[in-house]
Formats: sequence, structure tokens, C-alpha cells
Amino acid sequence: MKVRESGMPAQDQWEAFFDPEQILDELGLTSACADVIEFGCGYGTFTLPAAARISGTLHAFDVEPEMLAAAAARAVECRLPNIKFTLRDFVANGSGLPDSGIDYAMVFNILHCERPVELLREIWRNLAAGGTLAIVHWNHDDETPRGPPLAIRPRPEQCSQWAEAAGFVPAGTVRNLPPHHYGMTLRKPDLG
Ligand SMILES: C[S@@+](CC[C@H](N)C(=O)[O-])C[C@H]1O[C@@H](n2cnc3c(N)ncnc32)[C@H](O)[C@@H]1O
Repeated sequence: MKVRESGMPAQDQWEAFFDPEQILDELGLTSACADVIEFGCGYGTFTLPAAARISGTLHAFDVEPEMLAAAAARAVECRLPNIKFTLRDFVANGSGLPDSGIDYAMVFNILHCERPVELLREIWRNLAAGGTLAIVHWNHDDETPRGPPLAIRPRPEQCSQWAEAAGFVPAGTVRNLPPHHYGMTLRKPDLG
């Protein structure tokens, strides 16, 4: 099931809201990461710069064929062969990837979904012990030119509560990502 309020405006309008390189820096995505998963890749706004910095494969999922095709065409243009694009409803079907094989998960502008803790549990399953969950979402308290309705738009504290309910522990402070977003990271604990 497509996440409520997850439709996209035109690409240039969407991409004016972000500085993806700066956001990925803030959220600690470096070449030390091998395999990455992205839930809802959209136009590939974050997929492409993320794939360019990691040493492994970026598994990008989207339920909309047009989104996936647009992002995949950009990956070819940018010569980024380490992205595996998959047309899949991750709400209904999860990622289909094996347990514990992923270092870093990107959950950007999608955590206003209907059952966030269920999605976060699937991400917890995907991540290796010590792996990072990165969340980006629209600010709640500012006037924003887009974003889901405030009634379903989570604040950072709400995201933390959901992530902790799914088994994650906080890893760092909430980041302000101007002009309209915040970001945060949590970790799957390494119990070994
Ligand atoms: C608001 S956009 C965000 C895209 C990207 N994460 C970004 O921040 O640029 C959400 C994306 O998630 C996709 N999506 C929504 N529900 C989905 C589902 N159930 N399974 C896979 N993709 C989904 C939408 O098609 C859309 O491309």
C-alpha cells in the first residue's frame, strides 16, 4: 500500500528543498558504509549522492514505476552501477532482503506512514548489529511549502519513540537541515 501523502511534486521543485550532500554529511554516511537500503527513493535525490560515497550496494525501493525509472535513468547518466533499483511495496512486503546484511538505512520523508513501528522493525531486521537508521522529515513547527498534514507529520521526539519501540538506540542529536527539514540517526545495538 502506497504510504499516505507520499506523492511527489515536479523534480526541480522537490530538489530545491534539499542540499543532499550536506544532509548525508550531517547524518554520517561515509565510505566506511558498504551496503545501504533506501525506503522510497523517489527521484533519487539522495540515492545518487549516497551511492557515490559508499563502498557497496545501495538497495533502492519504490512502489511507483515512474519514480523508479526516473531515478534509474539518472543513475545511468551519473555512471553509478552500484544501485539496485527494485519496484516493491515495502509496506506490504518488506524489503525481501536477508536479515542483518545492511550497514545504513535511509528513511527520508516517509515516516508519516500508517504503521511506522512496523516499518522500523523491518529496517531493524535488515540492519547489521551496529548499523545506522537515518531519518529525515519535514519540520513540524515551521511554515513549510509542502509536507504531509501536521496531524500525521511526526516530530523528532515521535520518530525517536517509534524507533526505540522497534529496538533502536539514539546515536547523536537531532540535526537542523535548513530550510525545512530535520534529521536524526539511531543505531541497532550490537549486543555481542
Ligand atoms: C515523499 S517521497 C520521498 C522520496 C525520497 N525518500 C526523498 O526524500 O527524496 C516518498 C516516496 O516513497 C514511495 N512510496 C510510498 N509508499 C511506498 C511503498 N509502500 N513502497 C515503496 N515505496 C513507496 C513514493 O512512491 C515516493 O517516491
